[in-house]
Amino acid sequence: MPTRTAILLDWYARHARDLPWRARPGKAPDAYRVWLSEIMLQQTTVAAVKAYFLKFVELWPGVEDLAAADLDDVLRNWAGLGYYARARNLHKCARTVVADHGGRFPGTAADLQKLPGIGPYTAGAIAAIAFNEQVAAVDGNVERVITRQFDLRTPLPDVKPEVNRIVADLVPETGAGDFAQALMDLGATVCAPARPNCLICPWSGTCLGLKNGTAPDLPRKKPKKPRPVRYGTVFWAERANGAVLMRRRPERGLLGGMLEFPSTDWGGEPAGDPGRDAPVKAKWRQVPGEVEHVFTHFRLVLDVWRADDPVPPANVPDGDFRWIERHELAGEALPSVMKKVVAAVLGADALKPPPRQAAARR
Ligand code: ADE
Repeated sequence: MPTRTAILLDWYARHARDLPWRARPGKAPDAYRVWLSEIMLQQTTVAAVKAYFLKFVELWPGVEDLAAADLDDVLRNWAGLGYYARARNLHKCARTVVADHGGRFPGTAADLQKLPGIGPYTAGAIAAIAFNEQVAAVDGNVERVITRQFDLRTPLPDVKPEVNRIVADLVPETGAGDFAQALMDLGATVCAPARPNCLICPWSGTCLGLKNGTAPDLPRKKPKKPRPVRYGTVFWAERANGAVLMRRRPERGLLGGMLEFPSTDWGGEPAGDPGRDAPVKAKWRQVPGEVEHVFTHFRLVLDVWRADDPVPPANVPDGDFRWIERHELAGEALPSVMKKVVAAVLGADALKPPPRQAAARR
């Protein structure tokens, strides 16, 4: 009877998805493309990543090109993929690979993990796929496949070490890259979260979750604690010429280095006071409704205040503030929560470019 590993590799040889970062059969993988795709695929779906991946490799075909790029350019092209810290780390990592490694990615998971933006999963995936190191790459998809295949009922995250041990034992000596990608494909296309398609699964014959009827309910998860709520007050100050006051957040921490509308600190207490907290003196009016956004560790509720044509001199206050034209906001890499602020103030289609002037009559 063939091993699980052999069965999966055989299935992958016939059913591998054709993805733009994958090497054609018989061709050596390109570590830069593998790395770029793995960073993009962190917390984003394959379908969403494809177009971004193609755009990036066209703009920056190699790690040297990306290292030489302007960070703002990289962030602008990343807009829509979310989590801008990933784009900053991507750029930083490219520069480190060029500066410290002569433009070549290190070939082991242990060394890859020392680079910016590369955690244990991504290091394993790159080392296996690009360098065929015999290592495991375990993400949420793989956890689902393995807990079902072995009917592991311990909830996440406690079950993780056992999953890691099992996958490490399954990784073949040669073909670790194909094995990693096969598990990813199986999890994405067959062993789907709600309705696993066991009829076409190459591992159905050995699947204990299928045999015991537990598969659709695995993996189990420990109930999450409810997220705490934080509150803030945001100030939208707009000049007569349509420029809006913004500031850049500090490089480190949540939404590091991104643009935002000035606000109070996000804390436990609701409602700031424009008289006390606003960045410029003006006649402030409250915008109806609230903006809500869920971050990983807390839920944020913002009330929004607006002032038009703040009274003179409306200079840029101290700090990293700037006036940005409304229509330029569309091209800026704004965090989702700030896009919601724009929508609350201006309505959903507010970031369209201004209508062109009618052609002058002769
Ligand atoms: N998800 C994360 N990495 C992937 C890859 N290399 N192929 C398909 N899905 C993935």
